Amino acid sequence: MVEQRLQKVLAGAGVDSRRKCEELILDGVVRVNRKVVDTLPAFVDPEKDIITVDGRRIRAAAKVYFLLNKPKGVICTNRDPQGRTKAIDLVRTAERVFCIGRLDVDTTGVIILTNDSELANRLTHPRYGLAKTYVVKVKGQIGGDAAEKLKKGVWLAEGKTGRTSVKILKRNYKESLIEITIRQGLNRQVRRMLLKVGLRVKSLKRTQIGKLTARGIGVGKFRPLSKAEVAWLKKATTA
Ligand code: URA
Repeated sequence: MVEQRLQKVLAGAGVDSRRKCEELILDGVVRVNRKVVDTLPAFVDPEKDIITVDGRRIRAAAKVYFLLNKPKGVICTNRDPQGRTKAIDLVRTAERVFCIGRLDVDTTGVIILTNDSELANRLTHPRYGLAKTYVVKVKGQIGGDAAEKLKKGVWLAEGKTGRTSVKILKRNYKESLIEITIRQGLNRQVRRMLLKVGLRVKSLKRTQIGKLTARGIGVGKFRPLSKAEVAWLKKATTA
């Protein structure tokens, strides 16, 4: 059997995304044949080597896919030293799932959880630019000029933001409700874009990932994705 990179084997077994698995290795919680492996690169033979994470042996898992309607105050990482509620705590499954991308702790709405690191890598790759729609409540009245700037792209530390649709759903002197669709997934992107045009976010909710919505899923609840939905996600992220 050809040796494979340890982080790839961990991610393939649904431990977490490949990048997060690298962090786990460097954190010293991964053992191969009882010995801690905390440096990279590291190679293993998944058929022969005994690999554990936090003392639990990893095994090849069936791929699972869920859509969670994340409540406020829940975090999208699999390890939290502060012991806050994690998105994975809300999804009942025997498999070790993780979030595809992340929503901030204060952001609500739809997020996909899976143990399929291959799909996770593709869905977060800028090349495929899957549309993600948010409904944002901002303080004060949004002007047409701010909406135009958001559509054209604003400069963030990573560069100019890409294709963005903006729909003003409601506005008055106190607050405005905006629907914004982006195709990138930069950290805190919507909040930073709005701040760039002088708007302060009061609440942020992701209403749609591609064609997946929270319809029928209560806040804090989840449902498995159908075979057709998984097939659609895979197709949407194929070259
Ligand atoms: N943009 C943000 O600012 N926060 C999120 O949680 C998602 C997108």
